[in-house]
Amino acid sequence: MSRRISQTTLAVGSGKGGVGKSTVAVNLAVALAAEGREVGLLDADIYGPSIPIMMGLRRLSPRIEKDSSGTERVIPFSKFGVKVISIGFFMEEARSVTWRGPMLHGALQKMICDVQWGDLDFLIIDLPPGTGDALISLSQQLALDGAVVVTTPQTVAMLDAIKAINAFEQLDIPLTGVVENMAGFKPPGSDEVYALFGEGKAHELAQRFDTKVLGSIPFNPAIGVGGDEGLPIAFHESEDMAGEPLHNIAQTLLAQQRKRAAALLTCPST
Ligand SMILES: Nc1ncnc2c1ncn2[C@@H]1O[C@H](COP(=O)(O)OP(=O)(O)OP(=O)(O)O)[C@@H](O)[C@H]1O
Ligand SMILES: [Mg+2]
Repeated sequence: MSRRISQTTLAVGSGKGGVGKSTVAVNLAVALAAEGREVGLLDADIYGPSIPIMMGLRRLSPRIEKDSSGTERVIPFSKFGVKVISIGFFMEEARSVTWRGPMLHGALQKMICDVQWGDLDFLIIDLPPGTGDALISLSQQLALDGAVVVTTPQTVAMLDAIKAINAFEQLDIPLTGVVENMAGFKPPGSDEVYALFGEGKAHELAQRFDTKVLGSIPFNPAIGVGGDEGLPIAFHESEDMAGEPLHNIAQTLLAQQRKRAAALLTCPST
């Protein structure tokens, strides 16, 4: 018997590495949990899992318990109100994994099906860079309700994002929207905003694929520090309100979920 784990399952991807997928995934999960939602966070980055560090769960292994039917279940960590599972919990930190095909599929299946997720409102999945095996395998195992595409304002990031969007389309994964990360940088005490990586590409991308920009996150060292220290910026208040754009994106996702639920309740008139 199969069961839906989550009301809304969203993958966070980009095509390009290092644009902030994990940062966005972690902070959206934390921001949604702060709104009182049941949230799961699944780190599907088999090749470089960063969720354990970003969530302050480094070098820990989750408990395994038998459920009422005697089946072994992995108990996810609960941190900042979010249930967290990462392949990083099951392997040594410095080991690089070169799993392919069936092994990868099996590892992802375990993280989806053998984990005691409970009933989630949102399951946020942090994808590895690229458009390869992990995405294909996930899409075979889960009904993904949407993909959040992260890009920086750079042309190179946008070009890779296009590849990711094409892959989502081929796999019938609806596009939830684009998040622009590392947008302008405003040095402390200055009113000047510097477009470190250029401007406008996220909007160009959204327009091209008939979707919306869910939000724009400035380049802010506090966001990076939060990630390194395992204290997501969306959880704690920073002086410069660095977490605000992430909370705003979470609000948009909540509104989309409400709209979808309302649409499901609408009965055709007879
Ligand atoms: N808005 C931001 N301001 C400052 N630093 C940021 C911001 N977003 C992300 N970073 C930092 O940039 C680096 C890359 O971010 P992250 O690991 O989230 O990217 P990624 O796309 O998940 O990378 P990978 O492709 O390796 O999985 C991290 O050190 C992170 O803390
Ligand atoms: Mg990452």
